[in-house]
Amino acid sequence: MSDAFDGVVLEARHIVKNYGGTRALKGVNFQIRKGTVTTLFGENGAGKSTLMKILSGVEQPTSGEIVLEGEPVSFSSTTDARDRGISIIHQELSLAPNLSVRDNIFLGREIPGPVGVDYAEETRQTRALLEELQLPIEPDTIVSDLRVGQQQIIEIARALSVNARILIMDEPTSALAAAEVQVLFGIIRDLLARGVAIVYISHHLEEALEVTDHAVVLRDGAMTARGERQDIDLDWIVRNMVGDDFDLGSPPTGHELGDVALSVRGLRVLDPENPERAIVDGLSLDVRRGEIVCLYGLMGSGRTELLEAIAGRGEIAGGTVALDGERLTTETIAERIERGIGLVPEDRQRDGLVQTMSVGQNLTLASLRDCLVRGVLSPRREKRLAQRMVTDVTVKTAGPDVPIGSLSGGNQQKVVIGKVLATSPRVMLLDEPSRGIDVGAKGEVFRLLASHAAEGLTVVYSTSEVGECLSIAHRIVVLRRGRISAEFGADATKEMIMAASGEAVAA
Ligand SMILES: Nc1ncnc2c1ncn2[C@@H]1O[C@H](COP(=O)(O)OP(=O)(O)OP(=O)(O)O)[C@@H](O)[C@H]1O
Ligand SMILES: [Mg+2]
Repeated sequence: MSDAFDGVVLEARHIVKNYGGTRALKGVNFQIRKGTVTTLFGENGAGKSTLMKILSGVEQPTSGEIVLEGEPVSFSSTTDARDRGISIIHQELSLAPNLSVRDNIFLGREIPGPVGVDYAEETRQTRALLEELQLPIEPDTIVSDLRVGQQQIIEIARALSVNARILIMDEPTSALAAAEVQVLFGIIRDLLARGVAIVYISHHLEEALEVTDHAVVLRDGAMTARGERQDIDLDWIVRNMVGDDFDLGSPPTGHELGDVALSVRGLRVLDPENPERAIVDGLSLDVRRGEIVCLYGLMGSGRTELLEAIAGRGEIAGGTVALDGERLTTETIAERIERGIGLVPEDRQRDGLVQTMSVGQNLTLASLRDCLVRGVLSPRREKRLAQRMVTDVTVKTAGPDVPIGSLSGGNQQKVVIGKVLATSPRVMLLDEPSRGIDVGAKGEVFRLLASHAAEGLTVVYSTSEVGECLSIAHRIVVLRRGRISAEFGADATKEMIMAASGEAVAA
């Protein structure tokens, strides 16, 4: 075993972390080696982010020891850890939305000039990073004007800018398109060649396997398995994460589809950055009661804009949307929720959750009307609804009263889904809802959607994972440059779907 410890730059010993009564880590031992990628797998709430927060100075362990190149250390802050060469890409975006890209990258470690900050130098370095990451935007762009995926790339740029010896990546690709992931993987290979040690966390298991050297599995706050790349595969990961009997399922059969519930005709949405161009370009789509349609397409194919237009967010430049044969015109988002249209948005932090509220308050926020008794909010009803949704979407939480911020990333995403389901929608629109959700929970969400569909719910599910389409959809609609480029039934193959999207299909 001794040579397995060769090149260990950082070692965590017997790390315990308690949050009040929750024991998030139960004495974990973990090593990071120079010039290699250690991937960390585990279900939602297993303790992955907690361990990484401890290694990067965000949190302090309740007990245990961190040893950096043979020397015991303790980090009092992220700045402290960063000064020792440890950098982290957070699972939840942590950028300041009102600042520019450049100011975010250098926040807290501005480059001093002869008078004040050397903005010219910061701009130059920012531009170089953006180029390396192949993101064609200006350093002085305000972060809130960027798409989620672009913001995630800025998050990566910031972590790279410190030239760390140890780089921790907690779900770095959850909002990235396939091509952007490949750019990141190229950068990872360069970093490895320079001897950087990397920790990589992702629920996109195939993707994570691509970069793995060593894999480690956390389960309920304890390390339960480890393996070298040549000894592991997808089955090994899933088996160790969630146990043997696991299946993402197949599209629901056995219920009759009803009449057309959602009808989109000639819909046009213009690109806010370039009004000459239509992001959704005269698109028509009918979805029937009880039907589950997957929208598949590359980033920028118009999936998000289509769903947002149906939900009443953003301007429509032309075309119509009808629900059960009735045309929706001026209805606001709230009115459309009332009419039965629910959207699980792409960006849960910005649109999905109120961070200052509890799990229960977030779950019932959009359906308080159902909790009224003679016009007065009934705390009992509210509590009952919250409790039911916690169970339905399998949120791992101590109870509905805990703050939403104390949930793991994947469990927060489940709350966003539960919040929309609680409104008892007739049409449910989901925009990349499985981001950050573990394979087991994904199966649960699919079963839940299927059972609601059997009772008449219409589902439009946008995804960039082909496997998801094949596991849940009655019909797969492929979008390409704002138009429908192909439609398939449940018997399609991955290759057919990817080819129709314009994506290169691996040989
Ligand atoms: N600030 C906090 N207060 C209370 N409990 C917390 C806090 N942060 C995390 N926890 C709890 O610690 C446990 C581990 O959470 P953690 O975020 O590490 O999970 P994770 O493995 O990263 O999951 P995911 O895959 O969903 O991101 C969970 O039970 C979570 O609710
Ligand atoms: Mg996490």
